[in-house]
Amino acid sequence: MSLRPTTGTTPGRLPAAPPPLRVRDVTVRFAGLTALDEVSFTVAPGSVHALIGPNGAGKSTCFNVLSGLYRPSSGQVLLGDETLTGRAPHRIAALGVARTFQNIVTTEGTVADNLMVGRHVLSRAGFASTALRLPRAVREQRAHLARAREIAELTGLAARFDTPVALLSYGDRKRVELARALCLEPRVLLLDEPVAGMNGAERARTAEVIDTVRAELGLSVLLVEHDMGLVMRLADEVTVLDFGRRIAHGTPDEVRRHPEVLRAYLGTPGEDAPGEDVPGEDTPARDAGTRGTTAQGTTAQGTTAQGTTAQGTALEEATDSEGDPV
Ligand SMILES: Nc1ncnc2c1ncn2[C@@H]1O[C@H](COP(=O)(O)OP(=O)(O)OP(=O)(O)O)[C@@H](O)[C@H]1O
Ligand SMILES: [Mg+2]
Repeated sequence: MSLRPTTGTTPGRLPAAPPPLRVRDVTVRFAGLTALDEVSFTVAPGSVHALIGPNGAGKSTCFNVLSGLYRPSSGQVLLGDETLTGRAPHRIAALGVARTFQNIVTTEGTVADNLMVGRHVLSRAGFASTALRLPRAVREQRAHLARAREIAELTGLAARFDTPVALLSYGDRKRVELARALCLEPRVLLLDEPVAGMNGAERARTAEVIDTVRAELGLSVLLVEHDMGLVMRLADEVTVLDFGRRIAHGTPDEVRRHPEVLRAYLGTPGEDAPGEDVPGEDTPARDAGTRGTTAQGTTAQGTTAQGTTAQGTALEEATDSEGDPV
């Protein structure tokens, strides 16, 4: 069964082939700080493009520009021929760019409720016809609910469809965020740390979901992640930021051996390259993200909605199969 939206039956359908997403010389300044400094990269249609870098490198700032929350001081973002810079977030979403946030934002309602919030943007029936339950509005709601169920299946949430999100495991809640973004029928999906705070099994499951989503829905994915195993496994191309500057770009293999990348992550070029391990394949999950760590493993831990996690630990610091520091 194809899970791509089908003509006629799915409201808000968008063309299947995503256009390239081009980030051109984007600069963002906050008071005295340059969070992004003339950053450029292109997310090729249907690819997984990873945006990595140590804490504070500018990754989430870049997402905020792409989704319209921040207006850059200079530079441009284009989706195909459409300029995204200067547009409101809901207009960018309507053009087919959906995102998840670094921290969990869903706290209330069932999985179905949250996915239907995602569908709301695509509703054609007005408030009055929906409230009055006019036949056209009822038909449309039914189609949206059916599509939300398909997306729940795709993201491994079908059995939890009517469960309140407050009762879900952390991993399932993170996947609800992903599913909700998919409910916008995006052509480009922006994922900001989709496995942060997850244990090894949850990471592996989410990696599978991202892989399936890209294959089944034929969309492009821009992935911000500190889990180098996940990046190396999923990404076709990688762009590396450090202090707001693009320091490297290439295939995962090229990037993890790049001297500038090793310098940014380890403080000095070392023999150990990021991303030898793939989570969920009987190897310890590793996180990367601490700026200027040393071979001795000084850490600066990141914090998620779940609390302090293994995110941001030094490259050398292995974690056990549950993602806990060893
Ligand atoms: N709204 C803001 N106002 C001022 N400074 C900001 C703002 N947002 C981000 N910054 C600063 O911009 C820099 C980049 O932050 P950003 O959140 O983009 O980093 P990041 O790469 O996502 O880091 P992390 O891996 O920790 O999530 C940091 O120095 C941060 O403190
Ligand atoms: Mg961030």
